Amino acid sequence: MPLPASWGLEKTLAEIADAGQFRQLRLLEGGQGARVTIDGRTLLNFSSNDYLGLAAHPAVGKALKTAVDIYGVGSGASHLVCGHTSAHAALEDALARLTGRSRVLLYSTGYMANLGVASALLSRQDVLLQDKLNHASLLDAAAISGAKLVRYRHADMQHLEERLAALAPSEQRVLVSSDSVFSMDGDVPDLNALASCTAQAGAALQLDDAHGLGVLGEQGGGACEAYGLDEAAVPVLMGTFGKALGTAGAFVAGSEQLIETLIQKSRTFMYTTAMPPALAAATSQSIELLQSEGWRRPHLQQLIAGFRKKVSALGLDLMPSDTAIQPLLVGEASAAVNLSKSLLDKGFLVVAIRPPTVPAGQSRLRITLSAAHDENDVDQLVQALAELVGR
Ligand SMILES: Cc1ncc(COP(=O)(O)O)c(C=O)c1O
Repeated sequence: MPLPASWGLEKTLAEIADAGQFRQLRLLEGGQGARVTIDGRTLLNFSSNDYLGLAAHPAVGKALKTAVDIYGVGSGASHLVCGHTSAHAALEDALARLTGRSRVLLYSTGYMANLGVASALLSRQDVLLQDKLNHASLLDAAAISGAKLVRYRHADMQHLEERLAALAPSEQRVLVSSDSVFSMDGDVPDLNALASCTAQAGAALQLDDAHGLGVLGEQGGGACEAYGLDEAAVPVLMGTFGKALGTAGAFVAGSEQLIETLIQKSRTFMYTTAMPPALAAATSQSIELLQSEGWRRPHLQQLIAGFRKKVSALGLDLMPSDTAIQPLLVGEASAAVNLSKSLLDKGFLVVAIRPPTVPAGQSRLRITLSAAHDENDVDQLVQALAELVGR
């Protein structure tokens, strides 16, 4: 039985299509990597968040399989009922060491971690300040918490300071939340200024390090390691496993009190099945690889620097970013989609990002590099861009 016509789904879908924003699933016929197979065609993949090439790493797969023999597949319950295993605890300890935090709590996804933080810490009388380009999960977290949402211009610390100064002195809990590496832009705000102006205003800082963890910092400890931000500077640190660590899931790190509060009050932690223990074991293996295959980070950095140099030699402007996310701004949604299609015809998977994910008129190709690529892969993409849009 279809939903009643009065719900207007047909009209909604037509409107989405008319706006050039219709989205379709792509079916991959195998695993992640520098190359993926779609419709029987092998494509060079410049779209994934598998920044270190760990998503199909044999050691990570082996850790997962070994853990299935010990723990089985499902966790069976939420963490608080009987789903919390020694594999989960070992991962929490490894993450606490990696991030230099007192304690860590696992969540099933980063989306849920962000919802869980805001809903546990804030309520209607509190204030949440957010960068205008924050990830959708942070914005949804604001809505679910009921706190007053105040947004500041992207990466504009002066504007944040003004916003903080304009708050009433009676405001009790003020949380500033920001992506560390912006997911669709790849840039990093001045994190030291962000931390200091937040602290000066007596507010607390939450960083979403989904795109920094594993990639930034000497040890791969993420943005906080790279910028020397300890637990006092960033009391709420969130990171995810589905990107550089190559698995799935997420965590929040901070003080004992923060983690205890989340355990008591965070509904997206309390009322959901714990991530499979084998996935936790696989993620612990990924963390070990951050050390034992430490070459991956400098290799990625080299690819990023080379790509930027070669693209700028074509007369094209990539958006300002030193990270693995190297967007090429196109403008209109239809133009970005057409460019993505032309690249597909040439054997490249480079996905177009359109509104509402990015502001109108700022559609782009979100090109992502990975340690799984080699220089020749990158050169092939540069050559294709030269043929399609080079000046
Ligand atoms: C900045 C940021 N935060 C949070 C998330 C959500 O993480 P997850 O995919 O684990 O739900 C993502 C991407 O998915 C992200 O890019």
